[in-house]
Amino acid sequence: MSDKGTIQSSMVETRKFPPPPEFSRAAHISSIADYEKLHKRSIDDPEGFWREVAEGCHWFTPFDKVVEWEAPFAKWFVGGKTNMSYNCLDLQIERGRGDHTAVLFEGEPGDVRKLTYNNLRDEVCRFANALKKLGVKKGDVVTIYMPMVPELMIAMLACARIGAPHSIIFGGFSASAIADRVHDSNSQIIITADGGWRRGSVVPLKQNVDDAVAKCPTVQNVVVLKRCENDVSWNDGRDHWWGDLVADESDVCDPEHCDSEDLLFILYTSGTTGKPKGIMHTTGGYMVYTGYTAKMVFDLKPDDIYWCTADIGWVTGHSYITYGPLQNGVTVMMYEGAPNHPDWGRFWDMVARHKATIFYTAPTAIRAFMRQGDDIPDGHDLTSLRLLGSVGEPINPEAWMWYQKHIGGEKCPIVDTWWQTETGGIMITPLPGAMTLLPGTATCPFFGIDAAVVDEQGVEQPANSGGFLVVRKPWPSMLRGIYGDMERYQEQYWSQLDGIYFTSDACRRDDDGNFWLMGRVDDVINISGHRIGTAEVESALVSHAAVAEAAVVGIPHDIKGQALAAFVALKADRSASDEIKRELLAHVVKEIGAIARPETIRLTDALPKTRSGKIMRRLLKELASTGEVKGDTTTLEDFNVIANLRESDEG
Ligand code: WT7
Repeated sequence: MSDKGTIQSSMVETRKFPPPPEFSRAAHISSIADYEKLHKRSIDDPEGFWREVAEGCHWFTPFDKVVEWEAPFAKWFVGGKTNMSYNCLDLQIERGRGDHTAVLFEGEPGDVRKLTYNNLRDEVCRFANALKKLGVKKGDVVTIYMPMVPELMIAMLACARIGAPHSIIFGGFSASAIADRVHDSNSQIIITADGGWRRGSVVPLKQNVDDAVAKCPTVQNVVVLKRCENDVSWNDGRDHWWGDLVADESDVCDPEHCDSEDLLFILYTSGTTGKPKGIMHTTGGYMVYTGYTAKMVFDLKPDDIYWCTADIGWVTGHSYITYGPLQNGVTVMMYEGAPNHPDWGRFWDMVARHKATIFYTAPTAIRAFMRQGDDIPDGHDLTSLRLLGSVGEPINPEAWMWYQKHIGGEKCPIVDTWWQTETGGIMITPLPGAMTLLPGTATCPFFGIDAAVVDEQGVEQPANSGGFLVVRKPWPSMLRGIYGDMERYQEQYWSQLDGIYFTSDACRRDDDGNFWLMGRVDDVINISGHRIGTAEVESALVSHAAVAEAAVVGIPHDIKGQALAAFVALKADRSASDEIKRELLAHVVKEIGAIARPETIRLTDALPKTRSGKIMRRLLKELASTGEVKGDTTTLEDFNVIANLRESDEG
């Protein structure tokens, strides 16, 4: 940890971008003084602050207490009864937004569909009724594995309507990953599609579900949306076409009166062990926080056409495609396919045609666009944009400057938003009408967020020295636990410092109090803005018959930010070959998904270990990133292992 402070203090950023005056004038928060005043109030009197915010939502029964905190267990808006889908749909319709476009969808082949808030509510109710007919009850976990089409949003809102928690699995995950998650959550129903379009081909979603269900006998129903019209195999008693199910259903479905602390969803994310964690988010606090952050951070106004390019299968899509924006009655753009289909101008063409006003994406995408050349975005009319956002990993200043110039036309503020699956909503972020931006910092904590940079003892660090990012007070959308494993919840987030939330990110603050995020401090690697636990990839490798042992480490990567390097010791009777390397890479893709595919794989006789038998990942990391090992090797049991590894070729 001690060296973290020096890592970035050499990188002093002096370019400053105050908010454009015309932006500030119209913004919800229009000066740094307003931010500071409100932030102070939110920390001094959290109950009063959040009561007021929550009163902007619809409650069937008002809550009688704002928060109950017995570390590490929080309850928010205690006693309140509400419904997330009601707040996203009916409340908007009551406010006169029924005929306003809620979803502006574009499929990869170019098909465009618009659904108004009225249309969306009708579809949600029909599907909610269909789920009920299949026997889904309040509290039953519904697995969703779908392409980025409006029905994905309809399915999640239908679950919310009837109080059935959803567990959405990103469409890029493999059959084994689906099976693990279905099994962990005891889910008995999966909603999927025949396929989804990706770079002109069909992703065989139904096929993956069939392969997963073969290992999950508890699954009783599979609902299949027809999207690509590809052939699928069919299991009569179990499989149902979406279209047939909703055909005769009513478009009225009374929303369940959910308790504020009823589970809204589970979302699996990687941790430091091999097993993904089912992060639990509940109804009231998550609803209040996502609705409010969406409004303030993206400065949402009724006519905004808001586009977040994430997949709904990640938390960004849950909070800032569906739940946050819809609670604000805006138009949400949604795109099914790849950013480079048919070419690298696709996003810019869509921004121009649909006149998007807000665009939220990940640094990895920005770097990929940068590499394709300035002329691609420069050839499109992007003047409809008024605000840009970034999420998923630290945005490097070159990418920030490029984004600001070529996408934002030097007039759009950029909100670099730091948060996690666990935090449910944006935690550290500029408010675009108030903050002076510097490329590379997420600036300041959002209202109600008591973030700090501390050392191992929990002592707050002086300006410009690195430390651990922690959150010292509960916030409404904080995770409520890990599904089925509350011990791991305590251990993972609350054991380092008593009663304080440990983010596992390194950070420093500058003299002005801005937070500069410096990456993870655990064995979790951030690839293209998504967390991959190295342990998970190691266990996938070890599950291959030829493998004796494996170690996986993160290495820097130009576009993805980080990539994985795998070191694999084969069983004694297996010999190294390019073929086995290919087989191992394919095996990881099959076990987890393409996102976890190692960039390099080195076959070796043995891994470097300490005398007590721990694999020295630190040395492997150094070797993989720099080609040599200069670090301390005094605890290494057998130095020849490193010498051999250095000689072994990389591929
Ligand atoms: C981890 C959380 C939150 C939605 C997407 C990822 C990194 C996220 C930033 C940012 C620096 C960031 C952190 C965090 N991260 N946003 N703006 N600046 N780092 O969600 O998969 O739960 O990953 O992503 O390391 O801990 P996630």
